Amino acid sequence: MTRIALAYNQKPELSVSAPTAALDTDADDEPPSRGARRDGVALATAPQLVDDAFAEWDTIETIDAVAAALAPLGDVIRLEADEHFPERLRRERPDLVFNIAEGLYGPNREAHVPAICEFLGVPYSASDPFTLSLCLDKARTKQFLAATGIPTARFALVETEAQLRDVALPFPLFLKPSQEGSSKGITERNFVSSREELLAQGSWLLARYAQPVLVEEFLPGAEFTCGILGNGAQAEVLPLVALNFAALPKGALPIYGFEAKWIWDQPENPLEIFECPARIPDALARRVAGVALDAYRAVGCRDWSRVDVRLDAAGNPLVVEINPLPGILPNPADNSCLPKAARAAGIDYDSLIQRCARHAAERLGIAV
Ligand SMILES: Nc1ncnc2c1ncn2[C@@H]1O[C@H](COP(=O)(O)OP(=O)(O)O)[C@@H](O)[C@H]1O
Ligand SMILES: [Mg+2]
Repeated sequence: MTRIALAYNQKPELSVSAPTAALDTDADDEPPSRGARRDGVALATAPQLVDDAFAEWDTIETIDAVAAALAPLGDVIRLEADEHFPERLRRERPDLVFNIAEGLYGPNREAHVPAICEFLGVPYSASDPFTLSLCLDKARTKQFLAATGIPTARFALVETEAQLRDVALPFPLFLKPSQEGSSKGITERNFVSSREELLAQGSWLLARYAQPVLVEEFLPGAEFTCGILGNGAQAEVLPLVALNFAALPKGALPIYGFEAKWIWDQPENPLEIFECPARIPDALARRVAGVALDAYRAVGCRDWSRVDVRLDAAGNPLVVEINPLPGILPNPADNSCLPKAARAAGIDYDSLIQRCARHAAERLGIAV
């Protein structure tokens, strides 16, 4: 029987006194399940003051669901990706690591589990350390996409206040911390229409997140997120998810940022922001999917990922970011885009997880 180790980072029971540094990890760009949100801390204050340090953890609900989905494929061992992970992996030597671990520390945190697997010669699912590190850095991803001819919004990367003064892109602009996920640091205030606003919000972000800030052309068009499964010529884009910004509160900026993910979407009052499959002309859907697939291949994504795409003022699709460790919340009510797109294609949650494992196994020549 194939031995499959599920590598994960589990959301700890939070307390207000928990050290922020230890909790400051995130996998991708989706909020955790509703249950997790309820026990978060200080989510109800004004966006600029909200503590988003707890923005992304796998809950036991997700870990259980993935383990259950993998069970028909082999014996499942759970390996928490904590400081004991290297030793436990060396002892267990599974046939395959199914990796959903976000990692703990630093800008390469998502690469740690795959790198440890490579060091010990243990096969693992999904993208390699290079792709995971690259995609967690939105600016370097954009440099890479631009260099390989894949459309992405024009941008500048700034590290100092002085550089904010030198940004030569046309307003309005949109600011993002360059190395975060889960919309950490991405609020309506990041839309800036003047040099004064750029300086004020840019300086705040530089100080708050202690990392370079990405300054991008604001893309005013429709937005989509594209789930992708598979490898090589077989890689396929699942039905597109469109963001329905009309569902946001009146007057809100049309972005799927921190407020939309964390404040306005509440269990008792869910935000109906996703439309899947997107109701758009086939020709546009093909262009959006094509750009997403090009990006997936260019950065070397494997087995599965989710790519965010937005249209510019002329209606051309541009890549916003790539999520090689996509959110996979099992509860349909939690609005997780990859499972949602899979469901629209008739692929239920267990089948989605199993397909990812099978793509990995096939790529690696392992029987599952
Ligand atoms: N250049 C841009 N123009 C317009 N909207 C943007 C731009 N970049 C990001 N956004 C909005 O902000 C959201 C979050 O940004 P994204 O880069 O996807 O980060 P996250 O990791 O938080 O998902 C996007 O879904 C989109 O709505
Ligand atoms: Mg995103």
